[in-house]
Amino acid sequence: MSPFFVDPDISIAKTIDTDVYTSVKVFDQCREKIFATSWQFIGNDSLVKEPGEVYPFTLLPDYLDEPLLLTRDKTDELNLLSNVCTHRGNILAEKACKQANLRCRYHGRLFNLDGKFASMPEFKGVQHFPSKDDDLSKLNLFKWSQWLFTSANPIYDPGLFFRDMIERVAWMPLDDFKFYPELSRTFQVKANWALYCENYLEGFHIPFVHAGLNAVIDFGEYATELYFPYSSLQLGLSKTKKDCFDLPTNSPDYGKNVAAYYFWVFPNMMFNFYPWGLSVNIVEPISVGECRVRFLSYVWNESKLDKGAGSGLDKVEQEDEEIVENVQRGVRSRFYKHGRYSVTREQGTHHFHRILTEFINK
Ligand code: FES
Ligand SMILES: [Fe+2]
Repeated sequence: MSPFFVDPDISIAKTIDTDVYTSVKVFDQCREKIFATSWQFIGNDSLVKEPGEVYPFTLLPDYLDEPLLLTRDKTDELNLLSNVCTHRGNILAEKACKQANLRCRYHGRLFNLDGKFASMPEFKGVQHFPSKDDDLSKLNLFKWSQWLFTSANPIYDPGLFFRDMIERVAWMPLDDFKFYPELSRTFQVKANWALYCENYLEGFHIPFVHAGLNAVIDFGEYATELYFPYSSLQLGLSKTKKDCFDLPTNSPDYGKNVAAYYFWVFPNMMFNFYPWGLSVNIVEPISVGECRVRFLSYVWNESKLDKGAGSGLDKVEQEDEEIVENVQRGVRSRFYKHGRYSVTREQGTHHFHRILTEFINK
């Protein structure tokens, strides 16, 4: 397979090769090259509120499929550990609970909540034991306000992905945003994960696909800002002040009618800030032609729910889903290989394709 190439000059570039969306081989390569090395969303730190609480979960089920365990140890430190016993590989914790330590129920190996090996029955006479290898593997945690992220193979600094977004919304009371499970949803989409992301990364389709949203957003003023290297922002401006952010003077956007901030963080995370709060969208690959999209709602101002650009999100999602499922069928065609980009409207998609080539060609 020849390396992927997307010209840095958008005015002469062709869109990325369709193998990205259709080849099982490329899908498999993306697992380690993109998803293991980037930072992935875990959830909020209240998953383990008190010392002794443990929370097992799978990082990107069906894709990375990594069994992990979040713990809060007795010193109140958060730890992210492998949930796999270092003896013969049993899964250690099966459900969230509160306990003083972790005991494997297969042969009784005991670990502290920080992952350190504590004891093991019937191991007298075993040489060079215990060693560091008998501790549970510990993963890096990146914390932004209440949200936790990890990387299975952290070769990139999280600042490269999050820094610009964090600075832009630093004035918001993020610690007070409250998770609303009842407003959260999961969608199954019959399209490659990258198609879902690149659709999100251009506002070009809004007037064509989202009539409702188009009535709120000023398409002429819709702006894409490319953060380098691994994130971007689409700023949804409105014609009037109605249902917009009440921006403080220390916001870099003070004076503008901002209806929504659409931040994207490579490869698969969207952070949509509305005057009511935040909708986090996580795109999880399932197979080459299928992904799962989780919408998680964090509310800041309940009285602004269902107003402006942040209303009718289920409808907007359905419209997106339908179009990307059509595109998935289209990119399989023997007659389609590449398209071209709009210089004024598809900078975000071009930027994404450039990053994809960088990671896949490594
Ligand atoms: S697998 Fe855990 S003690 Fe044997
Ligand atoms: Fe859309």
